[in-house]
Amino acid sequence: MALARSIGFAVALFAILTEGSTLERRPNPRNCGEADMCCQGQNNTCFVFGQRVDRSEDSARCYCDSNCLIMGDCCMDYHHHCKSVDCQVGEWEEWTECDNPCGYGSRKRKRVVTQYPDNGGTNCPILKQRRACVGFEEEVCKQNLVNEMTIEKAEQARILPIEFGRYRTEKKYDPWKGILKNLYSKYFNEILTRPSYSGKFKIRSTHHGCESSEWAKHLTVNSTICVECQPVAMNRETGMRCLGHGVYNIETAWKAVDVPHCHGTWELTGQHQPDVCHYDVEEEDKKNFIFL
Ligand SMILES: *[C@@H]1O[C@H](CO)[C@@H](O)[C@H](O)[C@H]1NC(C)=O
Ligand SMILES: *[C@@H]1O[C@H](CO)[C@@H](O)[C@H](O)[C@H]1NC(C)=O
Repeated sequence: MALARSIGFAVALFAILTEGSTLERRPNPRNCGEADMCCQGQNNTCFVFGQRVDRSEDSARCYCDSNCLIMGDCCMDYHHHCKSVDCQVGEWEEWTECDNPCGYGSRKRKRVVTQYPDNGGTNCPILKQRRACVGFEEEVCKQNLVNEMTIEKAEQARILPIEFGRYRTEKKYDPWKGILKNLYSKYFNEILTRPSYSGKFKIRSTHHGCESSEWAKHLTVNSTICVECQPVAMNRETGMRCLGHGVYNIETAWKAVDVPHCHGTWELTGQHQPDVCHYDVEEEDKKNFIFL
């Protein structure tokens, strides 16, 4: 073991010379016990002229600082004289409540150090832990639902024919292909796990602007349409749903994307279904849409 402590050697000599008074009382201490030394961390002045545990011949000095455990140059009696103290911790405290009263959150717990390590004793173990939880405080959840519904009632849906959602190659929707492609690739890595769902809507009112559009002219009063919410259109901030996806039995607003003055209101006629819109029949096809 040839780890050198040369840095600080001059300092060490200086310290010995200036601490003559201590040394006078105990001439030539040979170990930590005789010198009554036991130093924390690295202290290159904390040595005596005695035998080292590594029995190295290149130095007559042995050390009484806890760094000697790493350097391997402790005095023979270091372990005996400078007893190491292991870290000790108290019991874990109780887990805290879930920090989200309604939804995903985390709980924490901690414990405190009752004895810090000394003289190379073992380090302290972890003092804090955290685990996932799902909060379900009925009142908060109820209120959240009310708030959520208030938000949903005020939203305006933006819809497109379902062909866009199928990412088809038909020539008739060419002008949109580029836009959809961009839309898909932008969120491609973010397509999350919630599958598509859909809702049936009865059109309550519509603006005359729709008549000029080949696809939006089918959005007529009293007709029922199916609108699909696909993963790419789901919004993380609103909890993985589509903007303006409607509220059961409540009149909400919709707008046909890129058709000037084509907007209106509709009513969700049943709960959302965990299913896509079926659109095999050619005529039915015109009554199927997607949320943007
Ligand atoms: C280093 O050890 C000496 C005794 O050898 C002591 O007087 C001094 O306070 C120690 N220095 C530090 C920084 O601990
Ligand atoms: C829609 O239906 C309601 C009653 O179901 C009826 O009163 C109204 O005249 C209908 N509107 C149109 C434009 O068909």
